[in-house]
Amino acid sequence: MSSAPLLLQNCRLIDQPGDAPLVSIAMETGRITAIGPDLAADGHEVIDAAGNLVSPPFVESHIHLDSVLTAGEPRWNQSGTLFEGIDIWRDRKQDLSLEDVKQRAIAALKLQAQQGVLYVRSHADVSEASLTALKGLLEVREAVQDWITLQVVAFPQDGVYGSPKNLDLMEEAMKLGADVVGGIPHYELTREDGVRSIEKIFELADRYDRLIDIHCDEIDDEQSRFVEVVAAWAIRTGMGGRVTASHTTAMGSYNNAYAYKLMGFLGRSQINFIANPLINITLQGRADTYPKRRGITRVKELWQQGLNVSLGHDCIQDPWYSLGTGNMLDVASMAVHACHMTGLDEIDACYDMVTTHGARTLHLADYGLAPNLPANLIVLDADSRYEAIRRRSVVRQVISRGQPISDTEPAQSRWLI
Ligand code: FE2
Repeated sequence: MSSAPLLLQNCRLIDQPGDAPLVSIAMETGRITAIGPDLAADGHEVIDAAGNLVSPPFVESHIHLDSVLTAGEPRWNQSGTLFEGIDIWRDRKQDLSLEDVKQRAIAALKLQAQQGVLYVRSHADVSEASLTALKGLLEVREAVQDWITLQVVAFPQDGVYGSPKNLDLMEEAMKLGADVVGGIPHYELTREDGVRSIEKIFELADRYDRLIDIHCDEIDDEQSRFVEVVAAWAIRTGMGGRVTASHTTAMGSYNNAYAYKLMGFLGRSQINFIANPLINITLQGRADTYPKRRGITRVKELWQQGLNVSLGHDCIQDPWYSLGTGNMLDVASMAVHACHMTGLDEIDACYDMVTTHGARTLHLADYGLAPNLPANLIVLDADSRYEAIRRRSVVRQVISRGQPISDTEPAQSRWLI
């Protein structure tokens, strides 16, 4: 993808105070070349940001692209539970083909890119002998690399030890080029299998030099405590920030004495956390009467502890969550509400959780707005992070690798009486 030199004028930079002067951003050969007032337009295609907020792109840090856009196939999830979703997916994935996976994944990536997402971490179910989901997403990773960066996690949906073949499939997934080792210890057949699955995940990550992202304690059971095992392994191996615990919804049910002790260990471990508030607020708490738990991890407390928390969709129209539009501001808005993060600093933090925090989780080395970095940025129909989340503002322009790839006009209403 080549592009002419581009000058984005009248930008309100997201990391500047609201009263800071507007600036221009010059881009050439896919990189930002300068940021400042009064940059010359000579030889550049000019776009006017009109004083709108200019931000680094959104980061989708947790999604399952192999199952997106399959809601209702072959049947609807009537109970709304994680486990009925897994049963439905077990049936649906019998029909997976490379073309099926690639077509739906690319459709979802385009949907997200048009709304400002240019970095995505997707899990790929590696519990099927054919590894169709993984192979499909690895092909997609190559096919879309000119406009979006995709990381693929080898995710053993049915458990590392759920079937004798699964461990070999994990190993094969590493050899095929998965970026990240996944896991699901709370869904292993026994607690002991869950613990040894974590040991195996760290061993694979070390041997193949990969990151780790484990579906961890995605259940309302207050006795599900695999996050402490993940933290312990991160401390012992020194892998720290290369490790992510996704979901950790059981943390929302832990007693406070245990949670207090755990927070200290998590601080030592420096692992990342990913919450998926849209889905977990609907998926969890299904066995409760009243009061019903929120089914979401302790986002606010982890953030207050200084730990890196990012947010993801998890699902868009699949057996676990039939809704979803791919809009990261929907995700951030749900976190604001469900996690009691309505203070202004807290709302800003929820915006950061779908941008800079996600970039840290994904270990992106060249993310942000500065000269010499890749020219990946978005223009929002907003003047602040608060306004962007409050109004779920439209992303007016998406620029990827220095080239405009999408623009969207905000909807207009007319008062008729
Ligand atoms: Fe997930």
